[in-house]
Amino acid sequence: MRTKYASPQILLHWLVFFLVVGTYASMLLKGAVPKGTPGREYFNLVHYSLGFSVLVLMIVRLLVKAMYVTPAIAPPEPRWQHLAAHAAHGLIYLMFISLPVLGVLSMYYSGNHWLLFGMNMPQSVVPDIALQKQLKGLHELIANTGYYLIGLHAAAALFHHYVLQDNALLRILPGHKKRGSGGPA
Ligand code: HEM
Ligand code: HEM
Repeated sequence: MRTKYASPQILLHWLVFFLVVGTYASMLLKGAVPKGTPGREYFNLVHYSLGFSVLVLMIVRLLVKAMYVTPAIAPPEPRWQHLAAHAAHGLIYLMFISLPVLGVLSMYYSGNHWLLFGMNMPQSVVPDIALQKQLKGLHELIANTGYYLIGLHAAAALFHHYVLQDNALLRILPGHKKRGSGGPA
């Protein structure tokens, strides 16, 4: 029985983690740059590009997840905790897929010229500013909720590791093989 997530899952988890940090950071840094300066456009480009990469990799993660059995936590957790973790992970997938989709749609309907990785992106011939505002509002709402969800997710992982002292966190960390049952699958 496998005691850790498969290597591609571990790699994707931490790659997405750094991309999400970069996506959030680019918006925070943009806010610190005076309006009308080229720095703001630079941070927009970084935000759109990193955010779009999150979308692609979250979809790849779902495909990779379907290829492997999720390793059980040792010692086993109560069923309610298992279900709660399952629901939280589902919500994370839903949020970090819908967020970039809403961002892209918001740019599409804005009528503004925009770039992804330096490439020109399509925009609606007929801009719809009312719709664009709604999409942007929803994007910002989900993005701000994301801080709490990820905070909760990380806190749960640390609680498992330091308080419950099971192998929940070690299963998604590169390298370690101890604290769990059995050897590699
Ligand atoms: C996981 C991916 C993403 C995350 C975590 C994220 C997060 C955020 C955050 C935190 C904000 C600022 C919210 C606020 O001011 O209250 C924001 C704004 C915005 N994001 Fe994203 N975003 C992501 C992907 C994208 C993508 C792919 C696009 C477009 C291609 C995009 C377009 C925008 C736009 C247009 C704004 C409003 C900017 C402004 O008003 O200055 N986002 N996003
Ligand atoms: C942007 C940040 C993060 C995102 C988007 C994220 C997303 C996810 C997702 C979707 C899963 C489910 C994996 C699957 O079965 O497909 C997962 C698992 C996991 N993550 Fe994160 N994560 C993030 C940050 C972190 C951090 C900072 C930690 C540790 C402090 C962490 C620890 C874990 C652990 C231990 C698991 C395995 C949970 C289990 O199977 O019970 N994650 N993460």
